[in-house]
Amino acid sequence: ITRTKIVDVLKSVAFGSTVNVKGWVRTRRGSKQVNFIALNDGSTINNVQIVVDVEKLGEEYLKPVTTGACISVNGILVESQGKGQNVEIQATEIQIYGSADPATYPLQKKGHSLEFLREIAHLRPRTNTFGAVFRIRHNMAIAIHKFFHERGFFYFHTPIITASDCEGAGQMFQVTTMNLYDLKKDENGSIIYDNDFFGKQASLTVSGQLEGELAAMALGAIYTFGPTFRAENSNTPRHLAEFWMIEPEVAFNEIAENMQLAEDFIKYCVQWALDNCHDDIQFLNDMFDKGLIERLEGVLKETFVRLPYTEGVKILEEAVAKGHKFEFPVYWGVDLASEHERYLVEEHFKRPVILTDYPKEIKAFYMKQNEDGKTVRAMDVLFPKIGEIIGGSQREEDFEKLRTRAEEMGVPVKDIWWYLDTRRFGTAPHSGFGLGFERLLLFVTGMANIRDVIPFPRTPKTADF
Ligand code: 4AD
Ligand code: MG
Repeated sequence: ITRTKIVDVLKSVAFGSTVNVKGWVRTRRGSKQVNFIALNDGSTINNVQIVVDVEKLGEEYLKPVTTGACISVNGILVESQGKGQNVEIQATEIQIYGSADPATYPLQKKGHSLEFLREIAHLRPRTNTFGAVFRIRHNMAIAIHKFFHERGFFYFHTPIITASDCEGAGQMFQVTTMNLYDLKKDENGSIIYDNDFFGKQASLTVSGQLEGELAAMALGAIYTFGPTFRAENSNTPRHLAEFWMIEPEVAFNEIAENMQLAEDFIKYCVQWALDNCHDDIQFLNDMFDKGLIERLEGVLKETFVRLPYTEGVKILEEAVAKGHKFEFPVYWGVDLASEHERYLVEEHFKRPVILTDYPKEIKAFYMKQNEDGKTVRAMDVLFPKIGEIIGGSQREEDFEKLRTRAEEMGVPVKDIWWYLDTRRFGTAPHSGFGLGFERLLLFVTGMANIRDVIPFPRTPKTADF
């Protein structure tokens, strides 16, 4: 008989029929006569209960069926007498694929701390928590593609190896060529690195935006969705050295349309999660974050605040005047700290805020300059508990202004001739933004640490994985 996934078994009403399930044992308990095995195959957070007649199958034979072992079960589907489940399987035959020695298997019945589980990243997908998180991660990726596809955006692949520093922050990982098995060494035996990519300087991309803009100037509306890299030495619960980013770019959109797109996009993803990941979200809500579902439903009802940076700073200065203590100073021109962003979102407005029109000094060279000569058409979407979830802008479409600004900010103009070409040949107003995939996942799962929403986190303190 062919295997049925546990997610489908649990929905089945074909009582009396024979089924086969395969999966990993969560627990086995019971008496000398009857055993109950909780089996999980990753298709759902829920386990199916296997009822075993110990005498019939043999006590000796069942010995290796411990937490973590992988088994295949044939049995009869019956209506369950127990609470909390509709069906169970009365085993007629159990095949053991692989045991897991209880003396050394790291995942035991008792709960483990998230810190401990980070150290065994190769096994943590087998826990309820990480099963839930990674199923949600998959569903969010699907939601993202659906959202843009339904709106006529094209998924455009931008390079991972690149020569340009989009954000101009100098936080890039260099790519070098070398033959690991035939390393060049100096007279002291130290490895000589080429420090280049076949003779050219190259790095891992920090953002697909610049290439995305080229595509928008041809295909109209595109989005990227891929890994990006930042060599910043920050050990925070919100930063990774390798994270995934979604970057839509749209010809003819101005900043207001860009903001609406961002708001619609996040709401679509949150709605998708609520509609498609109910059991997993309910589990995370009950386990870690009792306010999760309420927060997700809440965000769907709210219109995001649109607030110029200058107004935001005024609100923060008023808070300081009224006695609110911030760790870092607030004044016009400052790059707001996350405590400032969170004050606006969590204490002042109590809903998501899109902060716009930042001082040009603290934003990237490509942003469209406002008439005032001081600010640019930037937009950061700020979220409760997360802070910045999206960064974006309307782009400077004027060739001279863009080139001058790049020079002023020390961006090597020679190297971005191809980017500047878009402004020389058929330039157009356009806008886009970048959503940090893991920041979205922090919001949707309620997890507190970004290391817990990506399978293999890369941080300055990355261990073996
Ligand atoms: O604000 P950022 O740096 O903007 C850009 O890269 C633009 N080129 C995007 C665009 O306009 N197309 O990054 C965008 C988002 C942030 O808002 C944040 O959600 C996420 O990417 N992000 C990070 N996520 C995890 N770890 C890091 N180190 C991150 N840095 C940025
Ligand atoms: Mg940003």
